[in-house]
Amino acid sequence: MTSERRLPTDRFLFGGDYNPEQWPEEVWHEDVALMRRAGVNAVTVGVFSWSVLEPAEGRYEFGWLDRVMDLMHANGIGVLLATPTASPPPWFTRAYPDAMPVGPDGVRLSHGSRDTYAISSPDYRRASRRITAELARRYGAHPALLGWHLHNEYGSYDWGPHAAAAFRRWLRQRYGSLEALNRAWYTAFWSQNYSDWEDVLPPRRTQYLANPTQSVDYRRFMSDEMLAAMREQREEVLAAGSTVPVTTNFMLPTWNHLEQWSWSQSLDLVSMDHYLDTDGPDGETHAAYGSDLSRSWGHGAPWLLMEQSSISSTLPDRRVHKATHRVIRNSLSYVARGSQGALFFQWRAPAAGSEVWHGGIVPHVGAESASFEGFTTLGRTLEAIREVAQPPATGPVVEADVAIVWHAEGWWATEVEHLPSAALNYSETVRATHRALWHAGIPVDFVAPGAPLGRYRLVLVPSLYAVDDATVANFEAYVRGGGHLAVWPFTGYADENLHVAPGGYPGRLRDLLGLRVEELHPLDAADQVGLELADGRGTGGTWSERSTSTGAEVLGTYLDGDLAGNPARTRHAVGSGAAHYVSTFLDPDSLGRWLRDLAGQAQVTPPLGEAPPAGIEVVVRRGADHDYLFVLNHTAEPVTVTGPGHDLVSDRACADGRPVEGYGWAVVRLAGRDGWRWERGVVDRG
Ligand code: GLA
Repeated sequence: MTSERRLPTDRFLFGGDYNPEQWPEEVWHEDVALMRRAGVNAVTVGVFSWSVLEPAEGRYEFGWLDRVMDLMHANGIGVLLATPTASPPPWFTRAYPDAMPVGPDGVRLSHGSRDTYAISSPDYRRASRRITAELARRYGAHPALLGWHLHNEYGSYDWGPHAAAAFRRWLRQRYGSLEALNRAWYTAFWSQNYSDWEDVLPPRRTQYLANPTQSVDYRRFMSDEMLAAMREQREEVLAAGSTVPVTTNFMLPTWNHLEQWSWSQSLDLVSMDHYLDTDGPDGETHAAYGSDLSRSWGHGAPWLLMEQSSISSTLPDRRVHKATHRVIRNSLSYVARGSQGALFFQWRAPAAGSEVWHGGIVPHVGAESASFEGFTTLGRTLEAIREVAQPPATGPVVEADVAIVWHAEGWWATEVEHLPSAALNYSETVRATHRALWHAGIPVDFVAPGAPLGRYRLVLVPSLYAVDDATVANFEAYVRGGGHLAVWPFTGYADENLHVAPGGYPGRLRDLLGLRVEELHPLDAADQVGLELADGRGTGGTWSERSTSTGAEVLGTYLDGDLAGNPARTRHAVGSGAAHYVSTFLDPDSLGRWLRDLAGQAQVTPPLGEAPPAGIEVVVRRGADHDYLFVLNHTAEPVTVTGPGHDLVSDRACADGRPVEGYGWAVVRLAGRDGWRWERGVVDRG
């Protein structure tokens, strides 16, 4: 991350994707009037506009965009200008048919949707650079310009000839020689030994199980290849002299095509598109999950929520409806955890097209609607709390004493075929861990496996199957130095090439954990194991194992069955710290108890001492001169918040109690961290 290019810090950005090219110009003037009414101050323009910006190769039509940029500026609305390279126009396909992506089955895609390009095609890369350079030269100094939104949600794979050639180049660089590649890929197995680089292919569809190391290397390569494409665009923007921040929007929850730690180093700020994975209550933990990841990828710096859905979204795999109050609480949750704004996909619901039912700030029914009124409330709320947008001069925008180790490669490693259990699911395990901390009211960061860990009191390692030498050394040094490290099953079995360490699982962390696992006993989906834990009974699922302690203290055992009496939970004192382990996937209640116990041992508490009642989310965001307490009431019942501070939303002091209504919110400028309390109901001390 570079820090000298920043978004404005005197306000939170509020608005969303704006597609004026879909509408006649008279609608633009209505749009601007409505934007002002709602308090919109930022729009993302041009995301899929390539075919109207460059209707034929080398012929540009910028007049409409000039008018949009000027109109926005005249109305005090800033623009995040996108490069349109996620959707090349039809002429491009005709001119460069080989630049269309090919699936793993060898079928070349045709034009007709979006994201139809082969990322490694030299023609695609050249055309992308050119349109980026044109935009950067023309708008790089425009007064409406807030930042660059490069491409959109990088993540489309290709398995075609261009990708194959680029993959070979990447592999040569990584391994240096075919011998090294053969060793890493373990090609003696099934007669895969390579004698010529030209024989090396992307993991295309094959007869039976694919080579797992090849599969993971391909994902590493694809991430690097897309990063190289993004960096080319960044170079064009900087070469044109533009000084505003450059970002690209990551995508959650399902997108796992990028290694975000390396990407974030090439961005001025992280931005994310976040669509709730459920419209049930668990959606709140999901918003927090995406936010904590985004902030962490930027090492604690403010980030930007580039897209979320309005009150309704219809995605191919799910439909989510959000109450207006939820749109506001979610937006404040992202902001509490470091976002510099709340942007939506999209400003105006389209009249037709593939996403006609996606919804927008201005819905099909128009602005005379309760949902639009809700957005005006959000606009006013963000305005009322604008002082919070000024970040602290140093240090992270949210402080956490607990870190979860996160690595995209960890996810990829559990997506290879034929693991001991098909139910192993890295991202679900990480999510369950984060969710349990959310319920305990404990703030959390994510860290890369090799990152410095010293500032955390407790580090959690959910199912990181493959770990390199540096990671093993990092974990050991952290524990020796006094840290508490907690490890989940299926961690540390293999090195970065997915070669399993011999001598007993979890090979690479065996000594640190002080135990030796001899047999893996994955469980069927319907099966659970009973556990006798130090803090009471519990259950585990998906996984169990036969192990013996080689030094760890056994704090829980399996209750019955083949494994009765075997260690289920352990603690190994090492140096001045401890390495903790569970050998099954705990049910949510047992997991919550384990994490609270670990937090106790590591002296971690919620930010204001006590965890608030269930369903009340409390986050402290650091500002330039003050800290701010966000209170989000996700329940129907009011809660009264009492303590030294002033609520910016209601403009009321909290000393005598500030009732936060059911599904309501407060954002409090803290005058002190001691003496805060939460009581259910309206407590009137006035
Ligand atoms: C993504 C894209 C948008 C839109 C939304 C909703 O986040 O960036 O263009 O397609 O999803 O589907």
